[in-house]
Order: sequence, then structure tokens, then C-alpha cells
Amino acid sequence: MFSRAAMEAARVARSVPLRARVAAAASAAAGAAAVGGATVLCDDAVHTVEYDWPHSGFLQTFDHAAIRRGWQVYREVCSTCHSIKFVAFRNLIGVSHSEAEVKKIAAEFEVEDGPNDEGEMFERPAKPSDRIPGPYKNEASARAANNGAYPPDLSLVVKGRHLGHHYVMSLLTGYTEAPVGKDLLPGLHYNPYFPGTSISMPPPLMDGQVEYPDGTPATVSQMSKDVTTFLAWCAEPEMDERKRMGMKWCSAMFLGLALSMYYKRFRWSPLKTRKITYHDINR
Ligand code: HEC
Repeated sequence: MFSRAAMEAARVARSVPLRARVAAAASAAAGAAAVGGATVLCDDAVHTVEYDWPHSGFLQTFDHAAIRRGWQVYREVCSTCHSIKFVAFRNLIGVSHSEAEVKKIAAEFEVEDGPNDEGEMFERPAKPSDRIPGPYKNEASARAANNGAYPPDLSLVVKGRHLGHHYVMSLLTGYTEAPVGKDLLPGLHYNPYFPGTSISMPPPLMDGQVEYPDGTPATVSQMSKDVTTFLAWCAEPEMDERKRMGMKWCSAMFLGLALSMYYKRFRWSPLKTRKITYHDINR
């Protein structure tokens, strides 16, 4: 599209005076920009919006208050359908909650344990060392409860989707009315960011759905941002530490490089600065 517009502009430019040429070039550029920003009709989804996350920079850490709020959104909303089976309660300690808080949270869940002395499995309150139990026993029961669709485990979804956290954020805030002419099958919802645009997940968030103890207004975009930050942490819990170690290693290596360069020059200076002269012994 762009190249055709540019070629057209060039063709016009050759045959008209300067002022008209400038106008033609400007309108071609505007046209090309408009085409570049729109979705091409044959695409099956709108391209994910890329957000400026507070944790995506080279030296930036997760917003831990957002992780804490995000856990609340996951717990109160998403956990009715989605599991985060690779995360244990204890992983929250020191990240978003204190140890006492995590013990209290864990005790609200029941996990299956056993077998006991009679060979029976039994339920007991969860401990911080347990993985966070999901809402369904297995994939079949999850599908049965969701119209045949499987709500995927969210522990690694941020790593498992193109543009990870940008995508999850776009998906959660992207629900709209289906455009005229788009027929949805029963039980499907329109979301332009989901590949194919028909998703089985009903819009999970509504303004004011959770009440944040820290007073943050619980708008859809705020809750989406918080739960996405939480899921980004679930997928990459080592990120803060990794960046810190990276910084330490880079500084140490840089220092090492500077010292070795100095040492090399110091060691080689007698050789590099010597002067060699030759005497003509036949003279
Ligand atoms: C009523 C059940 C339900 C709730 C509540 C729910 N989801 Fe879903 N979710 C689903 C189902 C079903 C799918 C599978 C959609 C499909 O494949 O069409 C899904 C899919 C997803 C996906 C994957 C999309 C993809 O690209 O495959 C993400 C991410 C997601 N949900 C995040 C969330 C978050 C975050 C919350 C909480 C704010 C949430 N969901 C709440 C049912 C739910």
C-alpha cells in the first residue's frame, strides 16, 4: 500500500509544478499513514496495543503493590475459571504478602492429600508449601463448565502468548460490541484482540468488581493492569533478581575490563616504547 502510494506521488511529482508537488506528497504521506494504522481486512485480529509497563525497562522492577492488587483480582475473579498451578502460596511471601498473610490465605483453600492409614485420600486446609489449587479437577470438568472451551492455566500465559503482557492487557480491556455483520456463535463473545475475534471467555471484569483495601479505584483498566502485572510476575518470578544480578555482573565485568586494559598497557609499555637502532658493523 505504502509503496504504491509513494510511486503514485512520485509519478504525479514529475508532471506538476513545485507547489502542487508538495501538496501531492503530503496527501500521499497522510494516506499511507492512515493505511498503516488500520487493520487490514483479511487479518483475523487487531494488533495488540503495546503499553509502557513500569517493569519492562532494563533496570526496572515489578510494581509490587500492583502484584498484590493483581493477586486480589485473580483470587476474586479469574480463579473461578483459571488455575495458576505452577505457583505455590509460599511464592507470594516477600513479594506481595507477608508470611502471616500467606498462611491465612492458604488456609482458605482445601487441597487433596493422602492416602491416610486407611488408604483414603482426604481434604485438608492448604499450607504455604502447597501449589495454589485450581477451580477444576481436570480438563474435562473445566470444559464441561465452560461450554466446551478450556480456560488455560494462567501461570505462564504471559510467556506463552505473542507480546505477553501487552496481549493480556489488550485482551482484558478489549471487549466491545461485535461490528454489524459479524455473527457470533452462541456462547462466544467479541474481542478484536483474540485471534479469530470470537472468544469463549465472557468479559471477566466490570468497573468496581473488587474493592481494593489501598483505596485504588477499581476500574476495568486498573484491574486489568494489576492482574496482568501479577500474571507477568507468575511467569517470571525471578525477573527482579535477574536484573539485579545482571547489573552486578555487568558492573563487575566492566571494572574487570578496565583493569585488564590498564594492566596490559602497563605490562607492555617497556616493549611498546623501546627504540631499536642498528649499527652498521662494516663501517
Ligand atoms: C467464566 C469463566 C472465566 C473467567 C471468570 C475468566 N476467564 Fe479467562 N478464559 C475463559 C475461557 C473459557 C477461556 C478460553 C477462551 C477460548 O479459547 O475461546 C479463557 C481464556 C483466557 C486467556 C487466554 C486467551 C488466549 O489467547 O488463549 C487469558 C489470558 C485469560 N482467559 C485471562 C483471564 C483473566 C486475567 C481473568 C480474570 C480477570 C479471566 N481470564 C477470567 C474463562 C474465564
